[in-house]
Amino acid sequence: MKKIVINGGKKLHGKVNISGSKNSTLAILASTVLFENKITLDNVPNVRDIQTMIRLLETLGKKIQYKTKNRIIIAGKVKKNIAPYNLVRTMRAGILVLGPLLTKFAKSKVSLPGGCAIGARPVDLHLDFLDNAGYQNEIKNGYVLSKQKYITKELVYRFKKISVGATVTAILNSCLLDRKTTLLNVAKEPEIKDLIIFLNTAGANIRFDKNRKIMIKGVGVLKSVSHKIMPDRIEVGTYIAASLITNSHILINGVDYESIKNIINLFKKMNAKIVLKNKEQIEVFPSNLRSVSFKTSPFPGFPTDMQAQIMAIMSTIKGTSKIKEEIFENRYMHVLELKRMGANITINKNTAKIIGVKKLYGAEVMATDLRASVSLVIAALAAHGRTVINRVYHLERGYEDLVKKLRMCGANIKIINV
Ligand code: UD1
Repeated sequence: MKKIVINGGKKLHGKVNISGSKNSTLAILASTVLFENKITLDNVPNVRDIQTMIRLLETLGKKIQYKTKNRIIIAGKVKKNIAPYNLVRTMRAGILVLGPLLTKFAKSKVSLPGGCAIGARPVDLHLDFLDNAGYQNEIKNGYVLSKQKYITKELVYRFKKISVGATVTAILNSCLLDRKTTLLNVAKEPEIKDLIIFLNTAGANIRFDKNRKIMIKGVGVLKSVSHKIMPDRIEVGTYIAASLITNSHILINGVDYESIKNIINLFKKMNAKIVLKNKEQIEVFPSNLRSVSFKTSPFPGFPTDMQAQIMAIMSTIKGTSKIKEEIFENRYMHVLELKRMGANITINKNTAKIIGVKKLYGAEVMATDLRASVSLVIAALAAHGRTVINRVYHLERGYEDLVKKLRMCGANIKIINV
């Protein structure tokens, strides 16, 4: 079993190169179900969730070849319309093949997903869209069984709640069909924009309007295309957090500034000194941080995927900070572990109150989900003494070369096998 061991208290110094966005890659990979022509993707992060999605696509019939660690070529057609439990259970994004499989086969069987245990994470919004698009969906033995009931040439659909995944399902189900689709109250996360850029380059007709509206005209076929995946904005935020909590100076390379403005703005409210060196590089300086309060919300609001990392920093800032988690009701699994390291945090419903302590102390802790795990790494970098993090596989799902990147910046961190 792998564990991460960190001896805290060392300042970081150096440069971090940001990998491609995991979430953008997952949506784009799911969209390849719609293609018969060859696709080349660059900047694909080499992480477990992506490998799982690739295995799922291979099971469906696609041929995928790694040209380099971060460049893949996807060819062939999907031949099967069943996404099995063993592949979808570890990764919620497996549900993203449902919309395009229905476009291709008018019938599918897709396992209900797994992923991080951060809340109920149902699929009702995906299914409600599909119901309205003319499919009949039934949940049986852990699978979503869907089939086409009727065909509609025009569809106007409003999501009852903003959902990244359900927006992707709707886009992928709509972009080839002979249908004019208008989607209202959509998610507008940068990863959705990356997906739309990719699909439009391949010939799709998808228009992102203001006011959370997307208009799609089905195009029948998508052509061969090459695409470079956007940088991972959560990874950028995570390394900013690692730098700030250790009062360090690092350069972060390969960022997409537009996508991280909301994250930078919150850090700036905390009095962080972050300088945009050029369009792709930011520099983080040692800063005298102050406590703030914030809530998570859909983009352009503050991302829930950065909540745990900020909480780790807040645990060490003098004063009281508050966080209201408005996306995933259960996303406070890291709190108990941070408390083991000496943090002073109380939870009341979906609000966390954090009173900064002088020092965190190393402890044996357990990673519970992807972002919770990385918040423990961040806390451990600043903590006094040795921290051992168990269940490392959560981190491997979403952070490419985390240990290597931190070591290059001088952190005392290693993986051990026990
Ligand atoms: C995606 C991201 C994840 C991020 C989340 C919110 C991927 C692979 N994952 O997850 O990293 O934390 O967006 O930004 O891109 N909901 C329902 N019914 C549904 C679907 C969602 O009630 O059918 C709820 C969820 O429980 C949650 C909220 O809607 O409360 C938002 O979830 P959603 O945006 O769908 O998250 P994911 O797409 O799963």
